[in-house]
Parts: sequence; C-alpha cells; structure tokens
Amino acid sequence: MIAPRRAGRLPEPSGNGALIAGAGSLVAAALLVVAGWAAAGIAGLSPQGNPIGWAVGLATGTSRWSAAATVVLVVIIVAVAVLAALVVRAVMGRRSGAGRLDNLAKSMSLPSDVRPLSMETLAEDARRLGVAPECGPGVPIGKAVNGGTALGTSWEWTQLWVMGPRAGKTSCLCIPQVLATGGPVVATSNKRDLLDATRGPRSQRGLVRVHDPQGLAGQEATWWWSPLSYITDSPRADEITSLFAAATRDATAKTDAYFDTAAQTLVSALLLAAAKGGKTLLDVHEWVRRPDETEPEDLLIDAGERSAAIDVESARMKTPKQRDGIYGSAENLLSWLRNPALEPWITPGEGRPEFDAEEFVRSKDTLYLLSKEGPGSARALTASLTVAVTRAAERYGISQGGRLARPLLCVLDEAANICRWPQLPDLYSHYGSRGIVLTTYLQSWSQGVRVWGKEGMTQMWDAANVRGIGPGIADDQFAGTISKLVGPHDVRTRSASNSMRSGHSVNHQLRREQILEVADVSALPQGRAVVLPSGSPSIMLATQHWSTLEIADLITASIEHYSREGAA
Ligand SMILES: Nc1ncnc2c1ncn2[C@@H]1O[C@H](COP(=O)(O)OP(=O)(O)OP(=O)(O)O)[C@@H](O)[C@H]1O
Ligand SMILES: [Mg+2]
Repeated sequence: MIAPRRAGRLPEPSGNGALIAGAGSLVAAALLVVAGWAAAGIAGLSPQGNPIGWAVGLATGTSRWSAAATVVLVVIIVAVAVLAALVVRAVMGRRSGAGRLDNLAKSMSLPSDVRPLSMETLAEDARRLGVAPECGPGVPIGKAVNGGTALGTSWEWTQLWVMGPRAGKTSCLCIPQVLATGGPVVATSNKRDLLDATRGPRSQRGLVRVHDPQGLAGQEATWWWSPLSYITDSPRADEITSLFAAATRDATAKTDAYFDTAAQTLVSALLLAAAKGGKTLLDVHEWVRRPDETEPEDLLIDAGERSAAIDVESARMKTPKQRDGIYGSAENLLSWLRNPALEPWITPGEGRPEFDAEEFVRSKDTLYLLSKEGPGSARALTASLTVAVTRAAERYGISQGGRLARPLLCVLDEAANICRWPQLPDLYSHYGSRGIVLTTYLQSWSQGVRVWGKEGMTQMWDAANVRGIGPGIADDQFAGTISKLVGPHDVRTRSASNSMRSGHSVNHQLRREQILEVADVSALPQGRAVVLPSGSPSIMLATQHWSTLEIADLITASIEHYSREGAA
C-alpha cells in the first residue's frame, strides 16, 4: 500500500521528473490546439480538417484567426482551469481530515473483523442470552468506516468512552443508546439535552422520572427519594458515605488520614441512625453541626446497632480539638445539603410518592438524573440513586438466575462530574454478565484519574469490553497509548536513483508505521471515533448523530415539545 500524502511529509523521490514534465507539456500543447480549433469554430471562422491540420495551417498562414476567437479561447482556458481546480480540491479534500483517516480505517480492521459487533451477531447473542425481545439486539455505537456495518455491543458488554468537550458524546452516542432499548434505562446528565431528546420516545415505553434537584430542566419534585431508603445496615451506610466523600473531594486530593477516616465513620453511623430511626438527611446534617446531640446514639441503641452507637459516642467524647476536627470534616461531607432546593427531592411530602428502585428495575421505565458540579451540587444524590438502582438490579438479576432478562442500561454521561462512584472500576468486570450494562462517558483520561485515581481508572479501562475515544483528546500520553493499541501497519515506499554507472533504478521497501500517530489521535474529526473492543482489532467508527436515526422525527418533536415546556 502506498502511503497517502500527509502534512509535513515530503513525497518519495522519483527519477521520472523530466519524463513527466515532457509528457505534461505535450498534453498541454495538444489541449491548447484543440481549444484553439474549437474557439475558431465558435467564433465563426469555420476551421477546416482536424485540429492538427488546422494548427499547421495557422503556422503557414492558410488557417484564419480573429480577435473574437482569442476571447473565446481565453474563456475556454479559464473554464477548464476552474474545473480542474475543483476536481483537484475534491480529491485532496477526500485525502485530508476525515478522508485521510478513513483511508487508515482499512489498516485497522477488515469488514470480517467487525462481525462480532454487527447487529446480526448481536441479535444472535441476545437470543442466546435470553434477552427479552423488546430490548433489541444490543447497545449501538455507530458504523464501521471500513464497510459501513452498523455496530453495537451485546447485552453483556460494558463500554467506556473518552471524548473531549463538544465531541458528540451526547448527540451521537448517549441519545441513540437510550433509545435503542425497550428495557429500563438510567441516564445521567449535566444538561437537559439528553433528557429533552429522548424523553418523548422513552415515555412511549414506560414511565419517565426526572431527578432535577438543581433545576437544570426546570422540573418540580413530583416524587422523592433519599439515600437513607437504601441504608438497611452498616455496610450500606459505609457505601453511601463513600459516595458522599467522592462527591466532595477528588481521589487525588490530599486527605488527612486521621480526621477524614474518623469523619467517614461518624457520618456512616449517623446515616444508619437516621435510616433506622425514621429521620431525614436534613437531621443528619443538623447532627454533624451539633456535636453534643445524643439522639443518634439513642436511635442506634434502640435499633440494636451498638457498634455504630459507640462510633458516635467515641467521636463525641474526644478532646475538644479532635472532636471539632472530626465533626468539621463530617460537616464537609454533607455540605451540599445546605442547598434548600434539595429538600423536596429527599424528604416525603403530600402527593409526592417515594421512588422504589426494586419496582423500577422490573419495569421499562426511564430515570433521568440531572445534576451539575459546583456549589450546591446534587451529584452525591445522583451517585446514590444510581447505586441504589444498580444494586436493586443485581438482586433482581440473582433472583432471575443471575442475569436480568430485561437488562438495565446505565448511560452515565459526564460520569466524572456527576456520578462519582468509587466502586465503578470493580463493577466493570462483572456487571455486564449480570445484565447491568454500563456505558460511561468521560471528557479526558485525567478527569477519570481525579475520581478513581490512576489505578482505578486503569482498572476500569482494562475491564471495559469496549473502549472508545473520540475527538478532543489533548493528552499526549493517553493519545500515545491509543496510537500503540491501534498498532502498526505496513507501508510500501519507493526510492529512485540515477547514476552514470547503473543508470535509472527504482527500489521498493516495506516499512512499519503506526496506523494512527499521536497527532492523528488528537486530530480525530467530529463524527469519528476509534473503538478498541476486547479480543478484536481496533475499529474506525463513524458515530451516528441522532438526526440520522430512523426515529429522528420523534426526537425532533421531543426536543421541540420538552424544551418549550422547560422554558415556560
Ligand atoms: N457527527 C456530528 N454531526 C453533526 N453534528 C454533530 C456531530 N457531533 C456533534 N455534533 C454537534 O456538536 C454539538 C456538540 O455535540 P454534543 O453535545 O453531543 O457533544 P458532547 O460531547 O456531549 O458535549 P459536552 O461535552 O458539552 O457535553 C451539538 O450541537 C451536536 O449536535
Ligand atoms: Mg454532552
């Protein structure tokens, strides 16, 4: 294969320059003669014979020429030049940007390599796994550039995507995925775009619930749910506490081994006290600001949770300096509860039923979890609700023989900002096999490291069945990893030499070259992604903007209807 021209690369030397120049001059002269002959005809000079005879006549004075013929000739030359420029531009355009990368797609995988991800194979997989027919063959990801096959992942595969800001995560992946299944869906987002686009079609499948405590889509609380509903014992209290900790600080942030650990122990015990004693999260927030309060200890003793009661008592009885440090750190873990807008979403009220995760995982409903980072963020709630639902799905799956017949699809858009779930890397290795399908979207590798640490992020990347990257990768180390994983291909090169002794000679060589160089990875254009599936070669993917889907009209109608509703 001859390498296409790339910016910054010189063409291979060739010894045919003089030959090509000579042939080019001859062709140009012939074209000029034909154009002159045609111009004379158009100008009414009635040229006799063929163009060559006519040209000879012009030289010897037997053919005629006029000023009008000159004007026509100039017009013909200009028209031909413009046409040629357009053709050259079209060809070069195809070779640059997406076109040049698309050519490289052939070096990445053959149409036969992508068969395991084709919709036909996925449909067979779904039948084999006993997936309910309304769920469809799998979770779509786009089309292979080489061959155009529509691709997706099976109902036992997880996906992890790293794509920069405005790269098409929501419009080309999340929206098509949310709409691809007839089973239950949890979708997180920090904007209303995903909600507006998919809410209409999803409401034809089942009930749509929107968790919008920060008012990102202008939704009133018509139902409520508290992390306390999930807490039935000490390990679950610890789990929710770890979500609160992840929501309030980065994994890479410096922590105080003594105070931070003691604060988490305290908060966990207080959450358990509130859950057992029928209190609310607001009570827990009050307790951490009143270290003398003994009510949580009483509630824990009444509930038979002696160990947790001792945790609270021990924190309360510390020296004033230690106690202030522990309660101060505990207050930080719950500081997001200072936002009064959260109250109706986390406390019971007239006409607002409580969300039931067990019921949800048995339904075809959709749960949209909206929150955004920053002060007053509800992301601790977003993560808690995601955990409560997926854990309920785990239990339901076990009762169904290990795997959900109607898989739960979790589309975690902006996960590093709003669904900080420390255990996610551990779950990536086995959730797929339980019919809990995670597709997680991050803006960069380092964003993931901030939440899960370097090891956690690497673990998640390794455990995902399909890893995808899209436009906007600016991290040269990560881009280098992708370049290496995509691997090399053979490139044929030609060198020519002229010497007095051996004359003209041309040599062909094969060279190994990275299919995608680091610069190629970071220059992926909109609409393209590189996918690294487990056990198959990498694939250049044409992502499918929602407007290209068969149900684009329904999506447009949904956006028009719901964005108006929110604006009203
Ligand atoms: N392949 C594409 N064809 C046409 N438009 C596209 C394509 N990809 C993205 N867009 C447009 O680019 C804009 C950004 O896309 P989108 O919101 O999906 O990106 P994102 O990665 O989710 O961005 P953010 O990081 O802000 O959430 C949208 O207006 C979208 O319609
Ligand atoms: Mg987005």
